[in-house]
Amino acid sequence: MSEAILAPGRKLGVIGAGVMGSALLKGMLDHDLLTREQAWAASKTETSCHEVAAALGVRASRDYEESVADAGILLVAVKPNQAARVAEKLNASGLRADTLVISVLAGVSTEKLQGLLTTGNPVIRAMPNTPCLVGHGVTVYCGGVHALPEHLAVAEKIFHSVGKALEVEEHYFNAITALSGSGPAYMYLVMEALADAGVRVGLPRDLAMELVAQTMLGSARMVQETGRHPASLRDDVTTPAGCTIGGLLMLEDGKIRSVLARAVEEATKIVEQLGRGKS
Ligand SMILES: NC(=O)c1ccc[n+]([C@@H]2O[C@H](COP(=O)([O-])OP(=O)(O)OC[C@H]3O[C@@H](n4cnc5c(N)ncnc54)[C@H](OP(=O)(O)O)[C@@H]3O)[C@@H](O)[C@H]2O)c1
Repeated sequence: MSEAILAPGRKLGVIGAGVMGSALLKGMLDHDLLTREQAWAASKTETSCHEVAAALGVRASRDYEESVADAGILLVAVKPNQAARVAEKLNASGLRADTLVISVLAGVSTEKLQGLLTTGNPVIRAMPNTPCLVGHGVTVYCGGVHALPEHLAVAEKIFHSVGKALEVEEHYFNAITALSGSGPAYMYLVMEALADAGVRVGLPRDLAMELVAQTMLGSARMVQETGRHPASLRDDVTTPAGCTIGGLLMLEDGKIRSVLARAVEEATKIVEQLGRGKS
């Protein structure tokens, strides 16, 4: 056990072990944050329970009421419209006041979550993204009013097990949801378009896609590992009168900067509207 996150005798339950819940649980198990015996999972259907039990080797069931009282940490990863139903069940199942409740529900504020729980639990809200599935996600998190530094430290360990983890102020959540929560979809669109471009100039599709994916990965690593501004790194690739400057000018003619900015602006507005409906 490298970095235990649970007090002795307590367990971690994932309520909603779908795409995100399972990815987070897998990260924790792979990084020895807990043992399989210390974890349980809950989903809505028997089929999902069987799948997660087979994939991760943890106990999984539809009925988790009897496990709530022993839980030291509850990770809630159901769809946002299930928040009230889950909270009602927790309130009726002996939820202890010191159980840390971590939610990844988009648009559900810490204030809303705390209001749904009757025991005044420490609550953490987080926004991961799907590259968590391959250990390269980025997750932001923030604590509610009852969350102490030790609770934030636990969240950091959990989300660090599936990529980068950054503590942020809650008022950034809508913008972050639109930028890094939705971000993988933007990147996939760019990758698809560039692979098509490769096909247009005569490359086999598989080769084009492999080149594009590794170029995107390598460029991101260059920004992260050198700490240099992307414009400066771009200058290194751009030889006078060369092909790269020609390609870049075509991208600028197509208004790539403002198109990307407007996309994130639009997504942020939609998240805000969704949040008003839910929280
Ligand atoms: N996917 C993302 O990119 C992403 C990113 C950031 C945040 N999130 C947040 O993560 C949450 C889950 O998203 P997801 O993509 O992982 O969805 P998902 O794959 O559909 O998973 C939802 C899980 O919740 C279970 N479930 C539904 N109702 C339940 C209930 N009343 N009690 C217990 N379990 C219940 C489902 O069981 P069944 O499979 O049996 O129906 C399923 O296992 C959402 O709130 C979303 O906002 C997702």
